[in-house]
Amino acid sequence: MKIGTPLSPSATRVMLLGAGELGKEVVIALQRLGVEVIAVDRYANAPGQQVAHRAHVINMADGAALRALIEQERPHYVVPEIEAIATDSLVQIEQDGLAQVIPTARAAQLTMNREGIRRLAAETLQIATSPYCFAESLAELQAAIDGRIGYPCIVKPVMSSSGKGQSKVDGPADVKTAWDYAASGGRVDKGKVIVEGFIDFEYEITLLTVRALGASGQVETHFCEPIGHVQVKGDYVESWQPQPMRAAALAQARDIAKRVTDNLGGRGLFGVELFVKGDQVWFSEVSPRPHDTGMVTMCTQAQNEFELHARAILGLPVDTGLRAPGASAVIYGGLEAEGIAFEGVAAALLVPQSELRLFGKPVSFERRRMGVALANGQNTDEARTRAKLAASRVRTVKE
Ligand SMILES: Nc1ncnc2c1ncn2[C@@H]1O[C@H](COP(=O)(O)OP(=O)(O)OP(=O)(O)O)[C@@H](O)[C@H]1O
Ligand SMILES: [Mg+2]
Repeated sequence: MKIGTPLSPSATRVMLLGAGELGKEVVIALQRLGVEVIAVDRYANAPGQQVAHRAHVINMADGAALRALIEQERPHYVVPEIEAIATDSLVQIEQDGLAQVIPTARAAQLTMNREGIRRLAAETLQIATSPYCFAESLAELQAAIDGRIGYPCIVKPVMSSSGKGQSKVDGPADVKTAWDYAASGGRVDKGKVIVEGFIDFEYEITLLTVRALGASGQVETHFCEPIGHVQVKGDYVESWQPQPMRAAALAQARDIAKRVTDNLGGRGLFGVELFVKGDQVWFSEVSPRPHDTGMVTMCTQAQNEFELHARAILGLPVDTGLRAPGASAVIYGGLEAEGIAFEGVAAALLVPQSELRLFGKPVSFERRRMGVALANGQNTDEARTRAKLAASRVRTVKE
């Protein structure tokens, strides 16, 4: 394995497809290893573009535009950071040997649509999931609930993330509202939803799982300590690591993560989302890339999830060990404006063992994630209290 010199003919080039806050940290990790990085997003001055060697603004769902850019830039590795990408085009790019897609083009394709990954996990791999059906009309949705799923249940567009278009249905009166909301909230209007039986879990985790080359030159699977998190309306608001688990549940979680990631293949870090109750574990979904709840690893691990991803991509060894318990708490925009300012930063950083990441997004929305507070503590309870306190001291204002 060799790394060249950036901006020279020997450069090792990586193209990030999506340059949000997670992409930004991957770019920084790659830059530290002397990699030449090209950051692509749908809008200018995205967080990751601000720290990359070059930036491009294209519609990544446009296969022809994506291919043209890859032919122009000739990256060795193409690293999807978001789901909404022309994944058929990635499959073709991989087949033509134009670039290596991380972890694989098939993984990007299967996980961009809930139907692909759910059928793989539940039907092909026989892994426990919530009961589910797919529906393409309000009538089909109602029939699925009446015939199989029951109440309460959760309706989600098959193509969406961060809880967009997702709602809980408690009874017959909520079904039409859920259908209409899903139809409006989906990323690409596929007019298709998944309806899942509601799992009454005790807690949910993200199990960061890394497929990286070992000393023998073979891919080996490594697990980070489980990350616990709280979601509000399908979007993460706090996370902490480690989440204590019973031995049987942890073993089960690792077994599920191993089976799913073995099937998706390639090298890289995955965020495996699981629901847990006692010794029972259900697979929910997987991101074949760093996970938002995994931002906590920026204060808990010697090698955070972005560094682990960068190392795995490049064929380097990884160490997933925990350094100290910690937590993260999200800082929202709270207002709709361009070029906002953050007040209270100094007060936030007076919280013991705290850190901040302000992403530098050019535009703020009420519920847009604009930053995150991180904190360590004696244990995760103390870390959570500190992270939430630090986040609460940051205020966004119009300039
Ligand atoms: N079947 C279910 N039973 C109980 N809770 C659920 C179920 N499905 C989803 N949830 C809750 O909603 C959250 C978001 O769901 P999911 O991960 O499927 O959506 P998403 O839009 O992909 O979110 P993200 O992109 O943030 O991961 C879950 O983390 C969980 O808290
Ligand atoms: Mg999720």
